[in-house]
Amino acid sequence: MLAADKNDKLMRVGPGTLMGTWMRRFWLPALLEEEISEPDGPPAKVRLLGEDFIAFRDTDGRVGLVEAYCAHRLAPLFLGRNEECGIRCVYHGWKFDVDGRCVDMPNEPADSRYKEKISIRALPTIVAGGVVWAYLGPAELKPLRPSALEWTLLPAGHVVVSKRLQENNWAQSVEGAIDSSHVSFLHREWDNVMDPDGTPRRVPKRIAAQVLDDEDQLDFVRRMAADGAPSFRVRPSDFGFWIGARRSTTEPGEFYWRITPFLVPFYTIIPPGTTRLSAATTMDGHAFVPIDDVNTWTYNISWRVDRPFTAKELAHMRGELGTHSLTDADYRPYQNPRNLWGLDRQLQRSTSFTGIVNANTQDRAIQEGMGPMVDRSREHLGTADTAIIAFRRLLLRGAEDLARGKEPETPQQARAFAVRSASVLLPEEDAFDVAAGTALQAFVRPE
Ligand SMILES: [Fe+2]
Repeated sequence: MLAADKNDKLMRVGPGTLMGTWMRRFWLPALLEEEISEPDGPPAKVRLLGEDFIAFRDTDGRVGLVEAYCAHRLAPLFLGRNEECGIRCVYHGWKFDVDGRCVDMPNEPADSRYKEKISIRALPTIVAGGVVWAYLGPAELKPLRPSALEWTLLPAGHVVVSKRLQENNWAQSVEGAIDSSHVSFLHREWDNVMDPDGTPRRVPKRIAAQVLDDEDQLDFVRRMAADGAPSFRVRPSDFGFWIGARRSTTEPGEFYWRITPFLVPFYTIIPPGTTRLSAATTMDGHAFVPIDDVNTWTYNISWRVDRPFTAKELAHMRGELGTHSLTDADYRPYQNPRNLWGLDRQLQRSTSFTGIVNANTQDRAIQEGMGPMVDRSREHLGTADTAIIAFRRLLLRGAEDLARGKEPETPQQARAFAVRSASVLLPEEDAFDVAAGTALQAFVRPE
């Protein structure tokens, strides 16, 4: 559990809040590059940490991310005209460039110098990994670049990034992603098979891997099945912490470790099924970006180092069961709280633990279903919640230290984020992150 006042501090990210101030020390994903792909194309609405902006790409291809309302009489710039290197308010024609400067004021006398005194807030931006990043903090503390997560350093075709709306507080989603022990339950699925004597029987879905002849998948299934109650350890690191889930194997003294990083303020990387280190492995990660206190953009990111994804792979990822399944044009998922995430009670009785299709939707159903801001003072945590406790402590300590005047060092340590998750075989080992060594390093690192 978490005392009510601490719970409030953890979740609230608006201007002036403890956590919001700390989070504004980082470069943050603001929107997808695809939302403003065209010079002079339509602007995009951006709400980030409870503040409203609009993004646009100007005639010269430069990205602008400026406050959402005109300096004149606060008309919405989202309705504006993106033309001739600036966004023009349609109310009285005032026009602003990507730096927020007022460059035209056609309803004032032609010789007026009033416009030179007028500007709107404009955020610094960087484009990397298919995402437009923004910095909302004090200018003098701006880190040189966003955290050097591997997917931000790859050529375009090697990365697939999508986002979808989640109607709950961002911290609920982070906790869902670092909670390894739910995987064996929430995402469990079966196949109905017939025994030789005709008796129907349910077997775990992943046995289908045998049919597919997928050796990595089989290896994963065998190792997960060998120990259903892993023990969880946490090890601090420059970027946040490592979470190690340790399972017994049939070899004495050998353990199967699934190791995943939590990277501040809200990133995770899912461990691959295979224990082989390969540039051909598709990696998957998440970012849970606060829109405000009760809405979150969940970014799904898939990447591979060796080559671009093929059209077939992309089609699978964007299909019904894929990581990047489709949303509407405003990035709202078709399965949502209004239709109970597509819950099918018949499916729940037959082959699915939840009756909800798609692992991402299953996660979202739990996180949204808790309510917009969960009351952690009513929880009863157990031994499987080690990582969740570590997350709350780390973030609250960071935010409280900053409130006392101690600046966080992590936002400046971009290179520390060049890590990967991994599945590895190790001896009994407390320092599992040290023992795993290069398996946890990104293949692609910043210069
Ligand atoms: Fe999950």
